Amino acid sequence: MDKKLIVALDTDDGEEIDWITDILSKTVSWVKIGFQAFSTVGTDVFSWQNGRGFNTFLDLKFHDIPNTVARDVGSMTIHGANMINMHASGGMEMMQTARLKSESVAKERNIPKPILLGVTILTSIDEEGFQSQFGSKRQISEQVLYLANQAKEAGLDGVVASPLEIELIRKSCGDDFVILTPGIRPNWAESGDQKRITTPAEAIKRGADYIVVGRPIIEHDDPLEAVEEILDEMKGM
Ligand code: C5P
Repeated sequence: MDKKLIVALDTDDGEEIDWITDILSKTVSWVKIGFQAFSTVGTDVFSWQNGRGFNTFLDLKFHDIPNTVARDVGSMTIHGANMINMHASGGMEMMQTARLKSESVAKERNIPKPILLGVTILTSIDEEGFQSQFGSKRQISEQVLYLANQAKEAGLDGVVASPLEIELIRKSCGDDFVILTPGIRPNWAESGDQKRITTPAEAIKRGADYIVVGRPIIEHDDPLEAVEEILDEMKGM
């Protein structure tokens, strides 16, 4: 059972989620639920997927005032998410308040606290787009490192970043800091809208704790075959 690959269930089709998770349940231990799947299945998704042996990463990328994000994260902790993310650009107070809320509700109810991650800069944004759209003079890597350190200072467990930034973050934030990377494309898959990408093997070699792969698996004719190819490649590292 692989512990590093997270399959992004980016679909609002409940039946599709059902058959894909059914065939992957003996091979993969994490699934990612975004807005599409969450709007279809709702909070039952956690017990449903846990019942199949999956951990669930809730990818709703919270970004709001501290009180709202704290309540969102607290509520999703109670519902049973195993990993939750929020935009690190939401600020130190937002991240700290959310982390404290998650810790306190988990303690009160004697349930596990989910892994909390800060999203740095989306993997669909390249250097040119970052500077022109964000009005920033920084390089993406500088901003990613800045946000990763903010997330660490706020007490989050780690960050979501491009595989291209892993070494930089690892060096600055240490071995225990979780680095999860989307923007993963096997050589046989199309990149689509993702820009700062590597192969699964390269991301593992660079030190990713988790890699997220969506379309190359769920749009494949045989999702299990796609997963097995990716895992074979990762094992070669
Ligand atoms: O289909 P694909 O492999 O590109 O899916 C990647 C998944 O990871 C998508 O669900 C996307 O929303 C998510 N994600 C991302 N970049 C981030 C954070 C999350 O691509 N920085």
